[in-house]
Amino acid sequence: MDTHEDLQPLRDDPVSHRPLEVGGEDRLGYAARRRTDPGDWARFFGISMKDPLRIGAQFPSGRFLADEMAAAVDPCQPGLVVELGSGTGSVTAALIRRGIDQERLVLVETEPQFCDLLQRRYPGAQILPLDAFRAPKAIRQSDVGPIAAVVSGLPLLTHRPSLRQRLLLESLRLMEAGGPFIQFTYFYRSPIPIGRGLVNAEASPLILRNVWPARVWQYRLVPDAGSA
Ligand SMILES: C[S@@+](CC[C@H](N)C(=O)[O-])C[C@H]1O[C@@H](n2cnc3c(N)ncnc32)[C@H](O)[C@@H]1O
Repeated sequence: MDTHEDLQPLRDDPVSHRPLEVGGEDRLGYAARRRTDPGDWARFFGISMKDPLRIGAQFPSGRFLADEMAAAVDPCQPGLVVELGSGTGSVTAALIRRGIDQERLVLVETEPQFCDLLQRRYPGAQILPLDAFRAPKAIRQSDVGPIAAVVSGLPLLTHRPSLRQRLLLESLRLMEAGGPFIQFTYFYRSPIPIGRGLVNAEASPLILRNVWPARVWQYRLVPDAGSA
């Protein structure tokens, strides 16, 4: 559940509302048609009730939202895919359905129960049990090679706008090939205040088949603006 008291207006932002490409069921295959594990809903709800602001949602993302997130990642782009706030792994599963090997996934999550679950479910992925806001620096220092995309399910709106902006810029600067920072939100505007000229943002249509309806935002550095 996002709060947005500190969100600054975005009136000046160059936002287009082009629909994102969403994979069809045939291309995504059987795995995409499976429902979320009902146990995940109970587990997620229980943990969320203890610390709702930190978890940021009552339920894991549904398949339609998760697939919209994954559709924004180009599986042919070489490098690791970093997921911030993986939870029970809804979006992780969608990334794998999208054709990204587990070995290419870095899952950043602070909740220990989710980390254990992710470790069991995705033994090939690298689980980083650390604060996602520190992840870009940690990843840069670990020299893990190219990063293809950063995918975030973090509840950003509970954090200061400047912190969100820093996370966005540090993440975008990890990706030399102009890869995307992908974020979902239940909020009706960009969850990250962005200025003109440095970052391009585009939003998906509202995904109604999710509890709660959400949009997926993609952010990319404007070419040649990354060093500004
Ligand atoms: C809204 S849930 C999204 C979970 C999952 N990605 C999904 O879509 O179902 C946010 C997740 O981010 C995690 N989280 C919140 N703050 C975090 C932080 N600072 N660093 C890492 N993970 C964080 C929470 O524990 C939770 O699992």
